[in-house]
Amino acid sequence: MKVSVIGAGNVGATCADVIAHKELANEVVLLDIKENFAEGKALDMWQTSPINMYDSRVVGSTNDYSKTANSEVVVITSGLPRKPGMSRDDLIATNAGIVKSVTENVIKYSPNAKIIIVSNPLDVMTYCAYLTAKIPSNRVFGMAGILDTARYKAFLATELQVSPKDIQAVLMGGHGDTMVPLPRYTTVGGIPVTELIEKSKLDAIIERTKKGGGEIVNLLGTSAWYAPGAAAAQMVEAIVRDQKRIFPVCAWLTGQYGLKDIYLGVPVVLGKDGIEKIIELQLTKEEQELCNNSAKAVKEVMSVLDNMNVVA
Ligand code: LAC
Repeated sequence: MKVSVIGAGNVGATCADVIAHKELANEVVLLDIKENFAEGKALDMWQTSPINMYDSRVVGSTNDYSKTANSEVVVITSGLPRKPGMSRDDLIATNAGIVKSVTENVIKYSPNAKIIIVSNPLDVMTYCAYLTAKIPSNRVFGMAGILDTARYKAFLATELQVSPKDIQAVLMGGHGDTMVPLPRYTTVGGIPVTELIEKSKLDAIIERTKKGGGEIVNLLGTSAWYAPGAAAAQMVEAIVRDQKRIFPVCAWLTGQYGLKDIYLGVPVVLGKDGIEKIIELQLTKEEQELCNNSAKAVKEVMSVLDNMNVVA
């Protein structure tokens, strides 16, 4: 079974490395537009196999999509990352054209693949891929919720001095400053987080989570890659192992949460068919308002894409 990762930049390469390391596929194809770049990274990765003890073949390709043919899952990371001072939405003009042409090539060679979008602005690039791929929405979705939840859990683990393994959390909404962490659905070893932390500290962690991507951009001068790459690989794992895991995923809504015709982060069941179910939580009025607010922000950027006429 084959998994392909498009874009051999920091996020794509990290994702491919984790996929190979966990032996999620017997062939991992890494593809990039830049001459020899994916080949070099793939070769370097493959040379870790005798050290890390895996046998997933890692193969690199310069823009030859025939190498990705019949992939079970394709992860699209192509596009420019943010620079300090940029919002994710500032990337739309450049990244929409890239995501469209990548998706066309992907679907040509792997018509049955599940497609995971990682490019930013995430929710709208997922929409762009969906419009381009013309396949059912259970097979086109975006990675953001696992990353944002991971940041939230990591901050909580540091604050509470507990293992991140014991933290469970749900986060909804778009992958931007309007994302909606849900303290009511956050537990630590089964204990509601609100019993373990004062409100002001939890509020500060939620604010830090919302700006978690920007914090890294300010530190590094470019976007994060370890956590985004690992998060996308975790989605690949849920699909190829048919784990039926519950993750927050950027999914196409058709009326759930009173929202439709929009890609937005919601809890889903992820298995061999991609999104097998969208879970509808009973939100409070305040939580629903936060989600509506996030949906409004995403819709605005979706209409920018619609008006660009990039996707017919
Ligand atoms: C982040 C980018 C990848 O949140 O969106 O780090």
